[in-house]
Amino acid sequence: MSLKLVHVTSAYDFAASFSQEPAMTDSNDLAKLEADVLKAIDGAGDLAALEDVRVGAVGKKGSVSQQMARLGKMAPEERRAFGQSVNQVKVRVNEALDARKAKLEIAALEARLASETADITLPVRPGPIDEGRIHPVSQVTEELIEIFADLGFAVAEGPDIETDDYNFTKLNIPEEHPARQEHDTFYFNPGEDGSRMVLRTHTSPVQIRTMLASKPPIRIIAPGRVYRCDSDQTHTPMFHQIEALVIDEETHMGHLKWVLEEMCKAFFEVDEVKMRFRASYFPFTEPSAEIDIGADAIGKPGEWLEIGGCGMVHPNVLRNCGLDPEKYQGFAFGMGIDRMAMLKYGIPDLRAFFSADMRWLKHYGFSVLDKPTLSGGLSG
Ligand code: DAH
Repeated sequence: MSLKLVHVTSAYDFAASFSQEPAMTDSNDLAKLEADVLKAIDGAGDLAALEDVRVGAVGKKGSVSQQMARLGKMAPEERRAFGQSVNQVKVRVNEALDARKAKLEIAALEARLASETADITLPVRPGPIDEGRIHPVSQVTEELIEIFADLGFAVAEGPDIETDDYNFTKLNIPEEHPARQEHDTFYFNPGEDGSRMVLRTHTSPVQIRTMLASKPPIRIIAPGRVYRCDSDQTHTPMFHQIEALVIDEETHMGHLKWVLEEMCKAFFEVDEVKMRFRASYFPFTEPSAEIDIGADAIGKPGEWLEIGGCGMVHPNVLRNCGLDPEKYQGFAFGMGIDRMAMLKYGIPDLRAFFSADMRWLKHYGFSVLDKPTLSGGLSG
């Protein structure tokens, strides 16, 4: 028989013995009841046994509580004296219960501490957090932010739903400009004043927002989502770009080249990277160039890979943002983040990026704890 049951029986015994007729009539009986209960409290070996004693004594039908039921049959003077005595017994019993409980709780805790040991030097057990993966786009964005922060760039943001004016006009792409067609724009219905909002087709409108809101020197990057009505193996209607803008009084193409080179070396984690600038055209830069990197850096010797466009900010763009092109000049570039992720981590199909396939994410995703830092070598 377990300890617990012994106590249940004894607690039951009090209740039974003291509630039966003939009723107790003098204080000796009450003293005996108290002594028995206090003894039982002392003898309770664990919290469960103590609870049984408590219920048996001061619970609704407990031996002490039942003494109150006898008050009704007593003469008034007797009733007052007896009532007081019972109350005092109750108070003392409750005090004893509390004291015993505190002792037993400490004992229970000590027993637990002695029996349960934790080896805090063990590695973290794989749990739900280990199942989750950081998407390569998020990871690469973090890597690029880390690199550009080290070069002194701040992160700027703009909305995905952009005005036609910021997405095109202020970037020197007026209405009817052929470049508008190339952007496969998602347009919203025109507002009452005839103006149209668009899903931004590139991160370049963040250049405009930054120049309108702050004074040079400016050094920002703007990573984010962009949208074009285009879908095939190498194009998705939503993708990611990172824009950079530097405006100061003496900024030139040499600075642009150096920043891009440093960025590529840090990003691809190589000591040397071959770069090629191909003359190109963008309405918002003059001169403009397309940036290719020698794919030797990523294990494809002899090949060139295009990573983005760049150039010196067009004087019209500076003027549109209230900056004097005689005083200020600067450079800008824009690159595809998804493309950078594909190149660095050897991911073949762009569409898989956005298909929400857990198997893909498990394979190409990053651990939550794998935070990119330059000191940690970015990809760790
Ligand atoms: N906005 C261009 C695009 O989406 C990319 C680009 C080219 C951004 C040249 C620039 C730049 O800042 O200077 O195709």
